Amino acid sequence: MKKILVTGGAGFIGSAVVRQFINDTDYAVVNVDKLTYAGNLQSLASVSNNPRYHFEHVDICDAAELVRVFREHQPDAVMHLAAESHVDRSISGPAAFIQTNIVGTYTLLEAARNHWNGLDAKRKSTFRFHHISTDEVYGSLGETGFFTEDMPYEPNSPYSASKASSDHLVRAWHHTYGFPVVTTNCSNNYGPYHFPEKLIPLVILNAVSGNPLPIYGKGDNIRDWLYVDDHARALRLVLERGKLGETYNIGGWNEKTNLQVVQAICSILDELHPQGAPHNKLITYVTDRPGHDQRYAIDANKIARDLGWKPQENFESGLRKTVEWYLTNDVWVQGVTSGEYQHWVQTNYTNRSAA
Ligand code: NAD
Ligand code: DAU
Repeated sequence: MKKILVTGGAGFIGSAVVRQFINDTDYAVVNVDKLTYAGNLQSLASVSNNPRYHFEHVDICDAAELVRVFREHQPDAVMHLAAESHVDRSISGPAAFIQTNIVGTYTLLEAARNHWNGLDAKRKSTFRFHHISTDEVYGSLGETGFFTEDMPYEPNSPYSASKASSDHLVRAWHHTYGFPVVTTNCSNNYGPYHFPEKLIPLVILNAVSGNPLPIYGKGDNIRDWLYVDDHARALRLVLERGKLGETYNIGGWNEKTNLQVVQAICSILDELHPQGAPHNKLITYVTDRPGHDQRYAIDANKIARDLGWKPQENFESGLRKTVEWYLTNDVWVQGVTSGEYQHWVQTNYTNRSAA
């Protein structure tokens, strides 16, 4: 049985990856997560009692703790998702992004390389470090064209600059030390268990509560949306079959303006949650995000051609599933909106400091 060390497994995409590995494969998973505001163990409730799942409450900037985790668990691969991920937070407070996304990635790379150096020849040859990154490193597109793997990097926000830095570190560790890495750069994810600071879950929950639906600027910025389980399936494929040192772009071929996304959510809610319809009367135009990238669009031909991946959901099917999930998962939603989801962190920090 193979064991994967997943960082950020209590986050939105990380938890989808962990659930998929535990439910659909016989891999064991060690989830290394600091449980920031974005980490939520309730997203892993369906797998947390599985004997193949193990949780480590660890900060990826803590070198000594990482050495312990690698020594104790002896993973066969790392999937690195831990990050500060929200662009607006990176604008109001970039420090945590520099720390986790750059220093944390460096610290993790060194702990993983140290572990890899100690493996026997067979395990050393199959070990993988999979770095999960974003299409935002490529900057902003005009009206035409797509992000391909060979585009120059032009990150525009503190978030994307910190992710670009981490991509470069991973690339350098491969080039300099022969460390076995693969990198993926994905477009905007959406789906269940998404923290409601991001556009889609924020709009769903605000609309259900009759609160304003904030649209930055004119609402004409374009994002390329991918259902989170499709991303998780792509990540597994890249981990298992991706070529060392290569980058794979992952996207859903689903370009939408933000206004189109919000209108689509409102239409689904008008049908499934008719109280408050028409929900689009809540749309409120607000001040634009500083440096707001105009358009992202991924060319996902390489991963389709080389690894045979294609998304299972289109935007309509995935968005309907997502809205239905938020309407029927009160425990998770209430846990997040009330702050109760941080209970584990509060209890364990209290216990540790009392000890
Ligand atoms: P998220 O914010 O939902 O989750 C991040 C997770 O990382 C949380 O569980 C958090 O507790 C953990 N974490 C943060 N700092 C940590 C630290 N110092 N040590 C250990 N754990 C820490 O993020 P997400 O949306 O699931 O994104 C996951 C990864 O995918 C990120 O690297 C992000 O850049 C990338 N990505 C996200 C998207 C997207 O649309 N959400 C798209 C492309 C790429
Ligand atoms: O492209 C991949 C990236 O997608 C990931 O790397 C990031 O981690 C992830 O957060 C996401 O970044 P975005 O900035 O695109 O996602 P967000 O949901 O914050 O915003 C989506 C679009 O909606 C963006 O153009 C800004 C706009 N927006 C966002 C919010 C929160 C609004 O108009 N109103 C809002 O209230």
